[in-house]
Amino acid sequence: MASAQMHPFVSPPRREGAFSEQVAWTGFRIREREGRRWAPSPLARLNLEGELVGGMFLDEIHDSPAFEIFNLASKKQARGEKVYSLAIGEPSFETPLPIGEAAYESMKSGWGHYTSSWGSKDLREAIVEKVREKNHVNAMLENAIFMTTKLAIYASLLSVAKPKFEVLVPDPGYYYSEPALLTGGKPVRYKLAKDFSLDVDEVKAKITPNTRAIIVNTPSNPTGKVFDRKELRALFDVCVERGIKVISDEAYEDLVYEKKHFSIGSIEESPSEVVSLYSLSKSYSMTGWRAGYVVADAETIHKVNRFLETAVTCFPPFIQAASAYALRNCERYTTGFREELRKRRALLEEALSEIPELECHKVEGAFYGFPRYKMRLGSAEVARRLLNKYNVAVLPGAIFGPSGEGHIRISFGSPEETITEGTRRLKDFFKSG
Ligand SMILES: Cc1ncc(COP(=O)(O)O)c(C=O)c1O
Repeated sequence: MASAQMHPFVSPPRREGAFSEQVAWTGFRIREREGRRWAPSPLARLNLEGELVGGMFLDEIHDSPAFEIFNLASKKQARGEKVYSLAIGEPSFETPLPIGEAAYESMKSGWGHYTSSWGSKDLREAIVEKVREKNHVNAMLENAIFMTTKLAIYASLLSVAKPKFEVLVPDPGYYYSEPALLTGGKPVRYKLAKDFSLDVDEVKAKITPNTRAIIVNTPSNPTGKVFDRKELRALFDVCVERGIKVISDEAYEDLVYEKKHFSIGSIEESPSEVVSLYSLSKSYSMTGWRAGYVVADAETIHKVNRFLETAVTCFPPFIQAASAYALRNCERYTTGFREELRKRRALLEEALSEIPELECHKVEGAFYGFPRYKMRLGSAEVARRLLNKYNVAVLPGAIFGPSGEGHIRISFGSPEETITEGTRRLKDFFKSG
């Protein structure tokens, strides 16, 4: 076991203040002013006895292999080569103009200063109206806070963090392991079923006394699966019985094609066990705006706010104004995006049906195909070769967890021409063996 001396620590700040919390959250040990004793931070790898309790530092976390693909693609583009990108996690639509105008109006009215870390009251009211109406989550103002969804994953994990805590993450699934490790926890993967649906028995089998949260993501990145109400209800019952929080990532809630999106938080009379994460990124094509929100019980929201206040203070007020505007007025754009993506999905499905080496489940939501390929090659190598020789960028399935190996993720967020030419090249690649 590592000794306490081998691990870094930071001396306490001369004057106590917000700084000491920031030190704590980065995983270092801090010395409490009162009583002059060593205190473990919520993320500490060592407890007071010097035992290793989990978590990792940034030094120990690798860069995402997705960056290798993006970097390679950028280098090719810089050399003047045309790259057909089916890798990108965003649709090619512009942010609707009225949303930009709402931001500009806010800037012109002097909204360039700090706001409450919770988000403006008007925005939180818009969030509450939206989740009550669309998600059937019975939230009140105290249950809502505005923050970037990606950061919300960290914040919600911090809100459940305890020494030696474990978080169940989907396999294959989005990048939840890194936030789990960096918030001091241990990610434990649960496999999705063969058709990528939620296997509640598998989840149950992975629960231990240290499990503090289960992350579910529907519609799912990278699988394009939409979970059914029945499975989500069964998961909810398990979590309530065991006192485990559900962290429900609903970033793609608006991009569901045939089924209906079901918010697991709607099962509760009022937010209690479910921490729901939402995003404006895909719904309103606002990926660069970094806009999202968390809906949960008041105590969790309070903890999330404590993190936000010390980490960022608040999000830009003009982004908040534009987000409130989008939530209240821009449903028609979301519908338009979904319909356009439906066409692109048909294009992808047709193209994939002509590639016998690829086997793809129906994409029910989001904008990703996640086919299994018949080839004795790791997915990182497949993605590398596709890019190097055929100038097509896709993401290797393995970056989404061990169960993603043998798959590639194909985004249909790109324009039709890119999908058509990119998939034609995919066909050539697989035909050439
Ligand atoms: C499943 C999932 N959750 C969360 C996020 C992060 O959303 P945002 O970019 O709005 O922070 C993404 C982004 O691609 C995602 O795919």
